[in-house]
Amino acid sequence: MNNLANKRVLLGVSGSIAAYKSPDIVRRLQDLGAEVRVIITNGGREFVSELSLQTVSKNKVHDNLWDKDAELAMGHIELAKWADAVIIAPASANTIAKLCHGKADDLLSTVILATKAAVLIAPSMNQQMFASKAIKENLEILNNRGVVTIEPGFGEQACGDVGEGRLAEPIEIAKQVANIFSNNTLSGKKVLITIGGTIEAIDPVRYISNHSSGKMGMALAHACVQAGAETTLIVGSISVDVEKRANVTYITSANEMYDAVMKKIKSQDLFISCAAVADFRPTKISQNKIKKDSNLSSIELTRNKDILESVCKLKNKPICIGFAAETENFIANATAKLEIKKCDAIILNDISNTEIGLNSDENEVHFLSQEKTEKIDRSSKQIIAEKIIKKVTKYFF
Ligand SMILES: Cc1cc2nc3c(=O)[nH]c(=O)nc-3n(C[C@H](O)[C@H](O)[C@H](O)COP(=O)(O)O)c2cc1C
Repeated sequence: MNNLANKRVLLGVSGSIAAYKSPDIVRRLQDLGAEVRVIITNGGREFVSELSLQTVSKNKVHDNLWDKDAELAMGHIELAKWADAVIIAPASANTIAKLCHGKADDLLSTVILATKAAVLIAPSMNQQMFASKAIKENLEILNNRGVVTIEPGFGEQACGDVGEGRLAEPIEIAKQVANIFSNNTLSGKKVLITIGGTIEAIDPVRYISNHSSGKMGMALAHACVQAGAETTLIVGSISVDVEKRANVTYITSANEMYDAVMKKIKSQDLFISCAAVADFRPTKISQNKIKKDSNLSSIELTRNKDILESVCKLKNKPICIGFAAETENFIANATAKLEIKKCDAIILNDISNTEIGLNSDENEVHFLSQEKTEKIDRSSKQIIAEKIIKKVTKYFF
């Protein structure tokens, strides 16, 4: 069961004697499909070799907040953004106290403050330390902030004491990390998404395009990958980072996007047409730059093929979701699009409001299916994407 497939897990190793078990934790996380990177504290380094962790994780171990080279490559903020989940195992009493007080005096504690990802801790310490009021209160504060504690076990400890404080078993730690991703709802499904704007050449230097940034499409790509789908992207002109866990084909014009979609569509379960495809292209592309003093007064346009409509007409079509960017008569226009194109759902954007939609970080959309219309309130494009994917899964899979 690969329920950490496509997930990026950051393992923090702090200064507990149980740190010697951390390479095994890396392996168990990988067994469930995760890509793992490791941060080790100065304390952790005393108990386990970085070379072991580097070898099993197949990545450089991150150990220093002040590493100039790391800050140019994968520094503390990149690590914080990279992770889908952070698990500190073992979590020492000291590291737990630092998290509790929001300290940021080493790489691990700084990354924890900087991450939006789920944080889990697996405490490991002497039974008397674990029973102390300070630890109990610190864990309670962290739990109230949403940090998940993987409870330690009871038994004989390295120091010879018997009691509660042994690090949970590596397999149990990996399973509890997997449990937080309970939405593997598109596992085993193939999804094709078109993203960004198309560029329609007029001459070698000029073109017709639009303001699409690709933010909404890439947020959908991220949500699909997170939901466990095998995700393929056809990407036009964008100004965002590409989701690295997806298969990507880059295109320039609407015609190229059409060809790329038709090449990939056969085995797909879900097609999301999120790209802002130009409806028209210049009929003739001038081979040479059109001179300013030429007496050109208009550009003849030819209608581009409608990619969504073409996919909807296929014999064994996948579930098809389109986007409608409207400036007026929103619901009526989007409903008409749903009917004409015969797609399964339309996501309606009001692009007359410049604070949301095209090129902005936030959006507010309506989800129109043949049965009903539902509003998804204003939020970040990532949250909107996750809500769209939840609805698609609920209604169509
Ligand atoms: C031999 C030895 C074993 C230790 N084992 C633990 C332990 O299991 N759990 C713990 O919380 N601290 C343990 N400590 C104390 C921590 O290593 C110490 O508090 C350190 O500052 C933790 O640093 P870190 O949280 O930055 O990794 C141990 C110390 C020594 C010398």
